[in-house]
Amino acid sequence: MPSFTPDSQLDLLFSPELIPASVKAELGSDLHMRPLAKTDITRSHLSVLSVLTTTPDLTVAQYEQAFNALRACPNTYFTLVIVNRGTDQIVGVGSVFIEQKFTRGLGKVGHIEDIAVDKSMQGRKLGLRVIQALSAISENTGCYKTILNCSDKNIPFYQKCGFEKKENEMARYHNVADRPVHTPRL
Ligand SMILES: CC(C)(COP(=O)(O)OP(=O)(O)OC[C@H]1O[C@@H](n2cnc3c(N)ncnc32)[C@H](O)[C@@H]1OP(=O)(O)O)[C@@H](O)C(=O)NCCC(=O)NCCS
Repeated sequence: MPSFTPDSQLDLLFSPELIPASVKAELGSDLHMRPLAKTDITRSHLSVLSVLTTTPDLTVAQYEQAFNALRACPNTYFTLVIVNRGTDQIVGVGSVFIEQKFTRGLGKVGHIEDIAVDKSMQGRKLGLRVIQALSAISENTGCYKTILNCSDKNIPFYQKCGFEKKENEMARYHNVADRPVHTPRL
């Protein structure tokens, strides 16, 4: 079984100091919360996400390319994970990305995305800890609000996390599978 890899040996998405110590302290001693690492494809990251939605396998090169793309946008993408120290495998994940606005005197909004807890670990308040950490990152980055979309069945969970229901979500899906992707030059 792989042994636990400390943060100091990992290439991380953002500074671990942005994760509040108070939230980490609430996790069991068997668990550790940290930013996503470039090698987390080897620690079940995709398999944990698959409890949420379809998550096809990626090559290591594809995974690293996506990781690098996120990290190339400073102070924007914050994905964190909870790792089981005993197995060095991920058991919970979540992200917040920071939107810069021109309204509200250059206000910022935090968007929470892709919250997932491995089935075997659900009900241990890991989802709650992920949301608490992401909300704190959003607030400490200067966001005036943190928002997310969810299914009706998850509304009670997010209410327990301190969120309230506001307005509606609209969606329009696009069939992008067979089309070349246009990457705008920055
Ligand atoms: C939703 C999810 C993230 C919750 O994580 P979790 O670690 O199991 O939940 P927690 O243990 O942190 O729950 C915190 C509180 O919310 C409650 N809760 C969690 N899910 C709930 C649900 N579906 N309905 C009602 N209450 C719920 C818990 O009972 C707990 O309440 P308590 O404080 O009174 O004990 C997890 O079940 C999951 O990964 N589900 C599949 C993927 C998914 O739907 N993700 C969300 C996408 S929007």
